[in-house]
Amino acid sequence: MSRVQSQFVCQQCGAVHPKWTGRCEACGAWNTLVEEAVQASLPKGLGAGKGKKLELVGLGQANERLIRRTTGVAEFDRVCGGGLVPGSALLIGGDPGIGKSTLLLQIVAALARFGHECLYVSGEESLDQVRLRAQRLGVIGAPVDLAAATSVRDIAAALDHTGGPKIVVMDSVQTAYLDNIDAAPGTISQVRAAAQELIRLAKRRSFTLFLVGHVTKEGMIAGPRVLEHMVDTVLYFEGDRGHQFRILRAVKNRYGPTDEIGVFSMTGHGLAEVSNPSALFLAERQAPISGTAVFAGMEGTRPVLVEIEALVAPSLLGTPRRAVVGWDSNRLAMLLAVLEARCGVAIGTRDVYLNVAGGLRITEPAADLAAAAALLSALSHEPVADKTVIFGEIGLSGEVRPVGQSEARLREAAKLGFLNAYAPPRHGGETIMRVAEVRHVRQLVERFMERAEGQGAVLPVRRRAR
Ligand code: TYD
Ligand code: MG
Repeated sequence: MSRVQSQFVCQQCGAVHPKWTGRCEACGAWNTLVEEAVQASLPKGLGAGKGKKLELVGLGQANERLIRRTTGVAEFDRVCGGGLVPGSALLIGGDPGIGKSTLLLQIVAALARFGHECLYVSGEESLDQVRLRAQRLGVIGAPVDLAAATSVRDIAAALDHTGGPKIVVMDSVQTAYLDNIDAAPGTISQVRAAAQELIRLAKRRSFTLFLVGHVTKEGMIAGPRVLEHMVDTVLYFEGDRGHQFRILRAVKNRYGPTDEIGVFSMTGHGLAEVSNPSALFLAERQAPISGTAVFAGMEGTRPVLVEIEALVAPSLLGTPRRAVVGWDSNRLAMLLAVLEARCGVAIGTRDVYLNVAGGLRITEPAADLAAAAALLSALSHEPVADKTVIFGEIGLSGEVRPVGQSEARLREAAKLGFLNAYAPPRHGGETIMRVAEVRHVRQLVERFMERAEGQGAVLPVRRRAR
C-alpha cells in the first residue's frame, strides 16, 4: 500500500526536513516548518534524447530588443532605470496597506492610456473593490483588463497566446497557487512554483510581470528570499503609516541602478508624485531648535535634504537606552563611542534617541556629521547655526572624510535657502555658499562648547580626555 509521503519545509529558508522540529536546523528560525507532500522526484541525469542546438547571438546584438516602456510617472520610471523592460519580472514588496495595489493600479492605468494592453489580476480583492478604487483614483476610464483569479493554470491560459497583454500584474503572489502542488497558497513551495510559472511565461510571451509580495514582521518579502533571486527587479514600497510620504526603493535591478528612490505622497485620490522631496521633508521645520540638524544627502542621482533629530536625556537605567528610527543603530553606537573616546563628550551614560524626520531611511555614511551635530546640539541645548546644512563621514579616529557629490548637495541646499554648510575638506563648493571645513569631529564639539558657554550653559566635556 502506498502512503502519501510528506516532508517539512522551512518557510524562511526553504530547507527540507524529514521530521517536524520547532527550530529549522538550517537557518535557526523558530516555528517555520510546514508539512508539504513530497513531489514526484525529477529523473536523474539527462537520460536519453538529444538537446536542441543553442541559438547564439553576439554580445552587441543581445539587447536589441530591449525597448523600455515608460509609464509617464517619472518617480516610478527613474526607480525602474528608465522604464519597463519587456519580458522582465518585478517584485514589489511592502507592508500591508502601504499602497502597493494603489500604485500598481495607477501605473497600469497610465500605461493603458499610452496604448499598451494591461491585465490586472487581483487575488485579494473582488472586481468591485478594484473598480471602486479605480473610481477613487480617477482612472476608471483607462482601458485596463481586470480579472479576479488565483489559479495559475487559469491565469496562464489567459496569457499564453500571441497578442496577449504586454503588462501583467499579479496582486499578490501569495494568493496564487498551482493545483498540482499539494501545499496551501502562500507557502514557500506554492509561491515559488507560481512565481516561476508566471516568470517563465513572461519571458516567453515578452510581457512585463509585476508580482506584489507581502512583507513579514521582520521586513522581508513573506516566505521566500528565493523570490528575490528569481525576479529581475525588487522594489520595496516603504513609509510610515503616520506620514503621507511613501518611498519606492530599488533593492535589486538587473536593468538599472539600485540606489534611486521615488517619492510619493498618499492623498485622497491616490498617490501623487513628489518631485521636490527636500521641500517636503523640511516642510515641518520651524525656527532652529536644539537637537536638530539638516543633512544634505544623496539618494541615487538626486540630492535630498532631511532633518535629523536627536534627544539626549539622563538615563535611569543601568544600561542607557538607544533608539534609532531611519538610521543604522550600529552607526549610532560608533558615533557615540567616537564622541566619548576621541572628544571626551560625556554621553555614554545617557539615553539617546535619534530620528530621521519624515519617515525617510538614510543609509549613507555621509550622514555621520549631521547626526553628530544633532547629538551635540541636543546635549548642549544649543541649536545648530541658522540656515546650515551638514554632511561628512566620520572615521573611528574622529577625522571627517570627504564624501561624493558635494556640489550637488550644496546646490540643492542653496536652492532651498540655506546659506552655510559644515562639510568635509576638499568639498569644492565655495562658490555656492559659505562652507566651514570640518576636519575632525572635535572642531564641531568646540563650536558647540563655545556656543553653549556664550549662553552660560555647558557641554559636558571632560577636558583631560581631549
Ligand atoms: P493599498 O494600495 O490597498 O495597500 P496595499 O495594497 O499595499 O495593501 O492602500 C490602501 C491604503 O491607502 C488604505 O489604508 C487607504 C489608503 N488610500 C488613500 O489614502 N487614498 C487613496 O486614494 C487610496 C486608493 C488608498
Ligand atoms: Mg493590496
